[in-house]
Amino acid sequence: MDRESTWPRPKRVSLMSGRRRAPEGRPVTVPRLGKMKRDGERVTMVTAYDATFARLFDEAGIDVLLVGDSLGMVVQGQDSTLPVTVDEVIYHCRAVARGTRRAHIVGDMPFMSWQVSVEDALRNAGRFLSEGRAQAVKLEGGVEAAPTIERIVQAGIPVMAHVGLTPQSVHAMGGFRVQGKTEAAAARILRDAKAVADAGAYALVLEGIPTDLAREITDTLDIPTIGIGAGPDCDGQVLVCYDLLGLTPDLKPKFVKRYAEFFDEGVAAARRYGDEVRAGSFPDAEHGFGNVKKTETPAQAPGLSLVQEPRRAYGPKG
Ligand code: KIV
Repeated sequence: MDRESTWPRPKRVSLMSGRRRAPEGRPVTVPRLGKMKRDGERVTMVTAYDATFARLFDEAGIDVLLVGDSLGMVVQGQDSTLPVTVDEVIYHCRAVARGTRRAHIVGDMPFMSWQVSVEDALRNAGRFLSEGRAQAVKLEGGVEAAPTIERIVQAGIPVMAHVGLTPQSVHAMGGFRVQGKTEAAAARILRDAKAVADAGAYALVLEGIPTDLAREITDTLDIPTIGIGAGPDCDGQVLVCYDLLGLTPDLKPKFVKRYAEFFDEGVAAARRYGDEVRAGSFPDAEHGFGNVKKTETPAQAPGLSLVQEPRRAYGPKG
């Protein structure tokens, strides 16, 4: 008999365990995002890279979780998204899927994961769904990406496109700069947006472009546009979760609004913890397991649980 089939099974203490409120409503799907645009309902999207943050945003009712290649900068500490690999994004997608019940999960195709050949693009895109348990992929690119988007969509893989400031082209752009500021540049971005929509993209991220250009693209296309640094007239908005929660102390781009100051709160909490450990006031009796009861034999002693209530797994297993 192998170890897994023995009974009773060893108790699994999962990070995603415990009683919790179910996020409101049915799972967010590709058709539902299209309907949200038609109904004039704004789409909320946030990046997430692990199960805990995914659960936090899922419970908050955020519609779309993007496992962005921005993880290279905020999780890995790189100075661009270029070093991020397909395997790394897929690893984070799986973690996000474990923390998510309702939100739609999108895996970001990293630098050079779709440009080399359509076969390569298809193989990589498929892995985000089969291994990463994402429901769609995102791909940065305009007219030049359209034929690849079409092939991926034909394979049954929904594609979210991304035009304007495309961080994977940081060197070609000469830095992270607002795009489409001249009429000619704006016309090129509009052409890119139409090309990816015609190729079958189901949604489009508009990053770092003027407000009026984003409005024109939003009014022109039937698919939802999701803006970041693109003004208020897009069909939805996306922020990098570390920016939204105030976890990036040295960086505050103009388009970011911080809704919390987690970094400062974390430093203060860690400082209190350090002070209490040094002073010997943590752990106290409340956070310990008492003393050995000398009268009981081990067989009579009830098992001590490390947790306070029965736990159950949160997301899908795997
Ligand atoms: O990787 C990412 O986080 C993104 C968003 C900024 C749209 O592409």
